[in-house]
Amino acid sequence: QTVDGRGGVLLPGFVDLHTHLREPGREDTETIETGSAAAALGGYTAVFAMANTDPVADTAVLTDHVWRRGQAVGLVDVHPVGAVTVGLQGTQLAELGAMADGDAHVKMFSDDGKCVHDPLLMRRALEYARGLGVLIAQHAEEPRLTVGAIAHEGPNAARLGLAGWPRSAEESIVARDAILARDAGGRVHICHASTAGTVELLRWAKAQGIAITAEVTPHHLLLDDSRLQTYDAVNKVNPPLREDSDCVALRAALAEGVIDCVATDHAPHAEQEKCCEFAAARPGMLGLQTALSVIAATMVADGALDWRGVARVMSERPAEIVGLPDQGRPIAIGEPANLTVVDPDATWTVDASALASRSANTPFDSMTLPARVVATVLRGRVTAIDGEVRAL
Ligand code: DOR
Ligand code: ZN
Ligand code: ZN
Ligand code: ZN
Repeated sequence: QTVDGRGGVLLPGFVDLHTHLREPGREDTETIETGSAAAALGGYTAVFAMANTDPVADTAVLTDHVWRRGQAVGLVDVHPVGAVTVGLQGTQLAELGAMADGDAHVKMFSDDGKCVHDPLLMRRALEYARGLGVLIAQHAEEPRLTVGAIAHEGPNAARLGLAGWPRSAEESIVARDAILARDAGGRVHICHASTAGTVELLRWAKAQGIAITAEVTPHHLLLDDSRLQTYDAVNKVNPPLREDSDCVALRAALAEGVIDCVATDHAPHAEQEKCCEFAAARPGMLGLQTALSVIAATMVADGALDWRGVARVMSERPAEIVGLPDQGRPIAIGEPANLTVVDPDATWTVDASALASRSANTPFDSMTLPARVVATVLRGRVTAIDGEVRAL
């Protein structure tokens, strides 16, 4: 299969450090197969599948299974993220070494879904990760600060009486883990940075030479908490949509490199989990098929990033952060390549029901967005073209 890329922008295949694929446990909302299709259509050649499956991905048996299933589907490399801790309470370190040594070669471990409350445990995790040369991805929530919180966040949400995850819950963990990383010598990656305060902490930590990196989601760049006025649970996400001034700070930080990369936090949920009362709904939004277009709308349209910059934040930097040797870099002639072709002049209207994902919870439904992925190539093989996936 050949791709006619005339008039398009040729980019290295996108790498998503934060995807929820729900297999095993919630295959009614997403599977490795349906999530891989969404990823290929979104221009991705590698995704990192978060550990908060059911059961949690805290053993090599499970992480190797996810890797092999992704390879069998063949649309995108599905790199499992291992859980940092084991057990319901998450009071014990998982066998990071066994997961790193398995077929999956797990490169990133996360506390997403199971926060590491205990700073001593986090310090030990960073030390263990340093020895293995892997990364701890910190979901940046201190849950004890969300108990009884009166505001989902910001004046809009406070007026609406929505409970949630205050800035202090995010920023206190970013500060704590930056300092723990400094002294333990490990590398920490901040998931879904969402506040202007987090940006300032990252700036400070990087200036100290601390090995810290961070991602931001497309939805936190584009959407603010004014969307919550409808009480539509499609806008419920962790961390919550914040104020417009936070969006502005996050965009500037991404352009500047204080925030390293874009990650989707693609979080499929069943219709009944999103069509209920706001307080009872699950947090999370789809992201894989709309990420490039939302980045075009928020960053490229106003010149904050050029297409070279898009290659950096959606492919090169995430590949560097996890140390993927065959992603996010220029290729030699004749070498099988990971590529994404984008039509920069296209516009399209998002139709939630037409997405490849098994769920439909996108806040971008009915929005008209700029730029579109035309084709995706994984190691020289076309995986998506003109909105259709090409299975193995
Ligand atoms: O909104 C979110 N949903 N944030 C997370 O960190 C987890 C995710 C999920 O698993 O649904
Ligand atoms: Zn948490
Ligand atoms: Zn998270
Ligand atoms: Zn997540």
